[in-house]
Amino acid sequence: SASEKGGWPNFMSKEISEEPEAVANTLLGRVTDGLVQLDELAELDQTLRDIDRVTIVACGTAAYAGMVGKYAVEQWARVPVEVELAHEFRYREPVLSERTLVVSISQSGETMDTLMAVKYAAEHGAKTLSICNTQGATIPRESDAVLYTHAGPEVAVASTKAFVAQITALYLFGLHLARLRASLDERAHRDLVTELTDVPAKIDLVLDTSERISELAHWMADTRSVLFLGRHVGYPVALEGALKLKELAYIHAEGFAAGELKHGPIALIEPGQIVFVVVPSPRDERSLHAKVVSNIQEIRARGARVIAIAEQGDAAVLPFADEVIQIPLAGPFFEPMLAVVPLHIFARDLATAKGLDVDQPRNLAKSVTVE
Ligand code: G6P
Repeated sequence: SASEKGGWPNFMSKEISEEPEAVANTLLGRVTDGLVQLDELAELDQTLRDIDRVTIVACGTAAYAGMVGKYAVEQWARVPVEVELAHEFRYREPVLSERTLVVSISQSGETMDTLMAVKYAAEHGAKTLSICNTQGATIPRESDAVLYTHAGPEVAVASTKAFVAQITALYLFGLHLARLRASLDERAHRDLVTELTDVPAKIDLVLDTSERISELAHWMADTRSVLFLGRHVGYPVALEGALKLKELAYIHAEGFAAGELKHGPIALIEPGQIVFVVVPSPRDERSLHAKVVSNIQEIRARGARVIAIAEQGDAAVLPFADEVIQIPLAGPFFEPMLAVVPLHIFARDLATAKGLDVDQPRNLAKSVTVE
């Protein structure tokens, strides 16, 4: 009903507007004196000191949140992390032991493929942690421990606010793990916590300046193919941007790792092809920014139309991109939580321009409870 949508034309719009709170509420009560403290994982703390591997299992958008989390958890806690689609995981006889932690991510907590992966992991001796948005759902009940995201109920079939909440939970988990394993110095931990707690206000700024992306979406209603490029944590954001466009607007869309461009995807570039590029921060010390700017030049030289999502004040992209969507400055790990918001808005507005139902796209279900 209209009242449930809180004045918004559809649930997806309401849920995009709730992305800041989804992050803030997931942080609530989990930071004490500037340090991450996850009391709900207390029973797992000895296990977390002993594990030699983390395997993340999930489907759809949750799997992309997992891919973002992998970069952070591995970097901060110095534990190898892999991400696997839940439906692939249990059919390849994965190597598991009591020193493997299997982290499942699921908004609904009812996705059958993810549930079966968790059960398989437990039966083969691994410890299981559920990151879930639904209190008391099946997956958390089947897991050794649970870290709830507090995004609030998500009604639109395509996931939006749950994605940023899942990244938040993974970052909290990564910082908690790093603390237990003494792999990060306290100063670095505190700086990361500050950057994370600053995210909700920065997403608000992105939402406040979203008219340009809406205009672009309306102009592009006839577009037949859109590519998305990203690197490091921007790579799963590119995958998420492409998934949203397929789900909502029924447009052929593909996400790529920017470094992979020259190994194949560049063959797709022809005049007029629209390419979104998630640009790493120019302050990133690994010089990924320069590499992605050179990717933009390569695709621009072949006539593509580039829409860059870049940090405010990033002068290097301006001469090469057709459009620059600016996002506030954030640390390298926090940029994806901001960069994904314009991509959610773009998919919603393009689908709306085509007259489609953004809450109930064809052929999809909110939670897939069959294998
Ligand atoms: C379905 C939904 C997606 C969602 C995926 C995983 O395919 O349409 O939006 O990302 O399931 O759902 P879960 O509830 O496990 O996060």
